[in-house]
Amino acid sequence: MFNKKSRTHFIDFQNWSPDLLQNFFKIVDDLELLPKPTREGATGALLFFEPSTRTRISYETAMWREGMGPLLLDSVTGTSLEKGETLEDTIYNVAAMEPEVLVVRAGDEVDFKDLSEKINIPILCAGWGKQSHPSQALLDLYTLRQHFGRLQGLKLLVVGDVVHSRVVSSLLTLIEKTQIEVAFAAPKEFLPPHSSIKTFHSLSEGLQWSEAAMFLRVQLERHQQHFDKELFIKNFAWDDEKHFKILGDRKVILHPGPVNYGVELSAKAARSSQSLILQQVTNGVKVRRALLKYARGLI
Ligand code: CP
Repeated sequence: MFNKKSRTHFIDFQNWSPDLLQNFFKIVDDLELLPKPTREGATGALLFFEPSTRTRISYETAMWREGMGPLLLDSVTGTSLEKGETLEDTIYNVAAMEPEVLVVRAGDEVDFKDLSEKINIPILCAGWGKQSHPSQALLDLYTLRQHFGRLQGLKLLVVGDVVHSRVVSSLLTLIEKTQIEVAFAAPKEFLPPHSSIKTFHSLSEGLQWSEAAMFLRVQLERHQQHFDKELFIKNFAWDDEKHFKILGDRKVILHPGPVNYGVELSAKAARSSQSLILQQVTNGVKVRRALLKYARGLI
């Protein structure tokens, strides 16, 4: 399907052409029609050195559904990290047990590119510090494509803490391979420096322009400056009174999770019929199943 049936890393979208992306989404559509890989004793390692609910459990589910036994390391307690072993040594040692893939979430101190040059087992990035979260970007675009039946010309608003978001870094790289129109709604301190992307100075204006709005978690743990929460809420937080009217019944809202209720979104909005948030999670399993096939050279 991809002309290249060899095992491959999944760190970013450098080698992904627009055609490969379209083919990948068709595979996700038809996942249940493909033969299940059956290799006795196949395992996949999940090394999560940062917290996660959605990504970890969806990769774990995806492995079970792909006939692989997931091997999970997701805390320092009870591992040799407690004795001072480095993250790199941990990764090298687990790789030496020859799982079929290594799914890794780690901070900026781990160099995924360097690891992928040195380790001969496909590495799938499940979130890399401030830099990237490629499987999230894929599941976000897949969810939009599934809902709207197209990506071409779609107007996507990205709302909130853009500059601290690894989800946005990956999303913007992937959007370059599509014909989505993207805009931000964010205060100046949450915008990347020198951004040329269209920007709205209130959520209301941005929602009027968009067909879909992706809300981002305000990532207090990554902030180095004071965050004016009241001002952010005034201009960019979802307000049930104001924003349901603008949303109407054709526009949709998304969020990669976890949500800070009362800061980005209300619980009513997140659970409304216009919310695709749980559909994103459901699609995360399908997209990650297809990524496991891709990394193992099975598609
Ligand atoms: N969206 C996302 O990465 O969620 P988790 O941190 O729960 O995996």
